[in-house]
Amino acid sequence: MVHKLAPVVLLVLLLTVLTGFASAQTAAPQPFRMLASQANLDIGAAVALQPLLNDPQYVATLIREFNLIVPENALKFAVLSSAPGQYNFSGADYIVDFARANNMKVFGHVLVWHDRIPAWVLNGGYNRDQLLTILRNHITTVVTRYRGKIAYWDVVNEAVNPTGGYRASLWYTTIGADYIETAFRTAHEADPNALLFYNDYSNEGLTAKSDFIYNMVKDLKARGVPIDGVGFHMHQRLDFPPDMAKMRQNIARLEALGLQVRITEMDVQINVSTAPLAERLNQQAKFFGDALSTCLSFSVCTGFTSWGFTDKYTWRSPDTPLMFDSAYQPKPAYFAMNNAFVSYLANLGKVVPEPTVPSLVIQTIGRPVPGQVLTVAFKLYRMAGLYGLETRCQIPPPAVSSGGYTDGDLFTGGNSFVVNGGYNPAEGSWDIAASRLRPNPAISGSGTAFTLRFTLAQATIPVLTCTALAVDAEGRVLPLAVITLSG
Ligand code: XIL
Repeated sequence: MVHKLAPVVLLVLLLTVLTGFASAQTAAPQPFRMLASQANLDIGAAVALQPLLNDPQYVATLIREFNLIVPENALKFAVLSSAPGQYNFSGADYIVDFARANNMKVFGHVLVWHDRIPAWVLNGGYNRDQLLTILRNHITTVVTRYRGKIAYWDVVNEAVNPTGGYRASLWYTTIGADYIETAFRTAHEADPNALLFYNDYSNEGLTAKSDFIYNMVKDLKARGVPIDGVGFHMHQRLDFPPDMAKMRQNIARLEALGLQVRITEMDVQINVSTAPLAERLNQQAKFFGDALSTCLSFSVCTGFTSWGFTDKYTWRSPDTPLMFDSAYQPKPAYFAMNNAFVSYLANLGKVVPEPTVPSLVIQTIGRPVPGQVLTVAFKLYRMAGLYGLETRCQIPPPAVSSGGYTDGDLFTGGNSFVVNGGYNPAEGSWDIAASRLRPNPAISGSGTAFTLRFTLAQATIPVLTCTALAVDAEGRVLPLAVITLSG
């Protein structure tokens, strides 16, 4: 797809060529999330529970840049269930609640997979009927719990061999190929509004594997099985560049079946090459940028998710396959993705606004003490078109005790407001603050300053993150500021 580039994009590209990626971006780029909302794309990252609980910078970067979360491991069968009929949802619940509190969607990974099957299932010696019952019960239990909260499900993952044909998983060898159909039908019954995906690796191009998957999903569709799309993991390595032309042909044929596609687990290993680091990082950037551009050029490509976002936490460690380095600095891959968004939006004739917050406020202060009154001031610049604002602070559950919950109103008393800390029984977490999103033309303009002041009511706070979200005239939610407090 040929883009007519707006002058501003050409300037960015020129600067990029002349000065290298990093220095071209002296003005803070728009966070992915803001660009993605204008492009109608889910921009996602797989998340791990431990850094979500313990690493404020991880939380701040995630909230600032992404509008979708995939639990990297927390929803896997073996993680959820260690004995027949027993489930521990604490990790998954935390991630799903975190996503909702920060206006992010959730992609549920994964209901049926050959890996991470609990030992009690794997070694249980079950026959076909028994295993079908286990499969159905598992799917019904998990999907029902998150009905209305998880927008997309990865229903069946990695069921096809690299050369085509069904993988000889426990599910296939015991039940037969119809386990796939059963899985989709069961998930749909448990949440008819969730969109259901088949997901696999090395399936984005045109190969024996992607042909097999194409025929499989075509058959499922033809028989009325509720499948909405195909996910491409896109775990990449520099020595195997994906063929974008073939990927486009593959997306087009899936589109013709009435299916969506998504990039679901992208990362790019660079340690497989001995080229100088700068060159490898630029190649990695090209992989990410090309994949995102390709996705953006199809309306049926509804999401782009990477398997993590910081090299600090990646299953490929010690490789550095993601777009933020381990100190949360954006890498060339980040800027390549940014440029892909900007080119796409410019080509559509959409004005790419200046960053709403020139320096997205990320403030970290020391461990707060109970009774302490904290005042956090932040300024919002260039707010044209923004209508409502919500500030919300959340503390992870381990620190909770009981208390009252008070809603604050940001616009009471001019530019400052006071909110009281308290326990929100509905969400099972401590909230300090929140004015509701509502249209408020009074906050348009520039240079508006707000003060958030709250009294702390509990002893230990492992990490507390406040986000300020704005809603614009079209109802899109944009993150404005992230404030983290930690000890
Ligand atoms: C990986 C996780 O990233 C690891 O933390 C875990 O130890 C193993 O699983 N394809 C998938 C993912 O669908 O579930 C895998 O995630 C990576 C490959």
